[in-house]
Amino acid sequence: MRDRGIIWMGLALFLVFLTLPAWHNLSARVSAKGPQPVPPAGQKQCVAPVEYMRTSHMRLLLDWRDSVVRRGAQDYTSPDGRHFAMSLTNTCLRECHSAKADFCDRCHNYEAVAVPCWDCHMDSKTLLGSVK
Ligand code: HEC
Ligand code: HEC
Repeated sequence: MRDRGIIWMGLALFLVFLTLPAWHNLSARVSAKGPQPVPPAGQKQCVAPVEYMRTSHMRLLLDWRDSVVRRGAQDYTSPDGRHFAMSLTNTCLRECHSAKADFCDRCHNYEAVAVPCWDCHMDSKTLLGSVK
C-alpha cells in the first residue's frame, strides 16, 4: 500500500481545515462567549436604562456633545431623575467606566467598530492636555 502516506497526509490536512476557525479564534483572542464587557463595580444604574444604552449609547453621546458644544447646556437629567454633567471623559469614563479597556474596548474590538472619539477624547488615565 504505497498510498497510505498520502491518505494520512490528506486526513491530516482535512483535520487542519476542519479546525481552522477554532485556531483563528484562538489567535485573534476572540471569545466564543461574546465580548463580556465588565460593568463598573459599585454602580447599579447607568445614566439611562441598560436596554436603551445597549442599542443607543452612541446616540446619547452625540446628543450630549451637541448639547454642550452647540447649546452650552451641561446638565443631563436621567429618566430616573438623577443629574449628570454631560461629559464623555469626566462622567462616563472617570466616574464609572475607568477601565475603558475592559468595557468599551471589549465590545468595540469584538465587533470591529472603529470609534473615532479617542483621537481627541482621552480615557481617564491620560487626561493631561486632552479634550476632557
Ligand atoms: C477632532 C476632535 C474630536 C473628536 C474626534 C471627537 N470630539 Fe467630542 N469634543 C471635541 C471638542 C474640542 C469638544 C469641546 C470640549 C469642551 O467644550 O470642553 C468636544 C466635546 C464633546 C462632548 C461634550 C463635552 C465633554 O466633556 O465630553 C461630548 C459628549 C463629545 N465631545 C462626544 C464625542 C464623541 C461621542 C465622539 C466620537 C463619536 C467625539 N466626541 C469625537 C473634540 C472631538
Ligand atoms: C455591549 C457592547 C458595547 C459596550 C460595552 C460599548 N459599546 Fe460602544 N458600540 C457598540 C457597538 C456594537 C457599536 C456599533 C453600533 C453600530 O454601528 O450600529 C458601538 C458604537 C459606539 C459609538 C459610535 C461610533 C461611530 O462613530 O459610529 C460610540 C461613540 C461608542 N460606541 C461609545 C462607547 C463608549 C464611550 C463606551 C464605554 C463607556 C462604549 N461605547 C461601550 C457596543 C458597545
